[in-house]
Amino acid sequence: MKTLSTVGLMTSGGDSPGMNPCIRAVVRTALANNLRVMGIHGGFEGLIQGNFQLLGARDVGGILQHGGTILQTARCEEFTTQHGRMKALRQMNSAGMEAVFVIGGDGSLRGAHALASEGVPVVGIPASIDNDIYATDMCIGVDTALNTIVDAIDKLRDTATSHNRAFLVETMGRECGYLAQRAGIICGAEMALIPEKTTTPEQVAEAVENAYVRGKRHCIIVVAEGFTPHAAEMAEKISKMEIGFDTRVTILGHVQRGGRPTAFDRMLSTRFGVHAVEFLLEGKSDIMTALDGRDIVEVPLETVISNKRSISEEYFRIATMLAR
Ligand code: F6P
Repeated sequence: MKTLSTVGLMTSGGDSPGMNPCIRAVVRTALANNLRVMGIHGGFEGLIQGNFQLLGARDVGGILQHGGTILQTARCEEFTTQHGRMKALRQMNSAGMEAVFVIGGDGSLRGAHALASEGVPVVGIPASIDNDIYATDMCIGVDTALNTIVDAIDKLRDTATSHNRAFLVETMGRECGYLAQRAGIICGAEMALIPEKTTTPEQVAEAVENAYVRGKRHCIIVVAEGFTPHAAEMAEKISKMEIGFDTRVTILGHVQRGGRPTAFDRMLSTRFGVHAVEFLLEGKSDIMTALDGRDIVEVPLETVISNKRSISEEYFRIATMLAR
């Protein structure tokens, strides 16, 4: 790879808390290595439109503690087409942008790989509250989202207990049950319903009824948004059965995507940002930074996008044993 002088940086797809500290880390590590950084506003759409801004050290000051992304983000259909990618390459050439860092989730990392396939040096950084990315223990934003969920469920439990109610709480995560399963364990839920595991309304009703008969004053069921039927439909089905509790449904929604990044997310995104620049400077491309135990490693984007992250059996065992 020839010596680089100007690199681009974007956040793409759904935002996640920790994107800002990652932007800061990429920009300042790049500057420390005599690279110019162009912020690309609005993800791949901004790349196609040439919506670029040169970023200095001061431009990324005071952002570490904020959720969202100062570069803004978007989901971009056009970049999935050859025509869209050609427009992006044209914009990059006229701005002298020689490489790109993409901070984002599954779709964005696919976009990153497509860009690398056009011959552009690219490093991806996994950021998605869903934690559905293969080969990394954690993505940027997951820890903050989980803390938001825990906080919400703790509050719901107060009112559930006061009224002797069962709450079905829907969490985000697309087709991945990570948030729901982990929240179920650490919030003391009776059950977590996730897309990776079939659970019938009869089984849910039985768990709720058992909780009632055992004398519990509340019952929490965490439902991943990718689970079928959805929380509201499930509540309707089980409330027609003999379950003891009155039921209510809470959909946490986009509140899970906002907020100050936790200490864990700030550290993870900072390390990802630093390593991403260093990997690029070592001549590595078409890769993603990943957390492997304590270490930050690089994984080929091809491997990342052609594999699915699985849910660990260990957590099923713990959840089942403790919900009594
Ligand atoms: O991928 C992150 C995520 O928040 C998912 O959990 C959710 O399904 C989706 O994005 C929502 O997308 P949007 O913000 O476009 O409605």
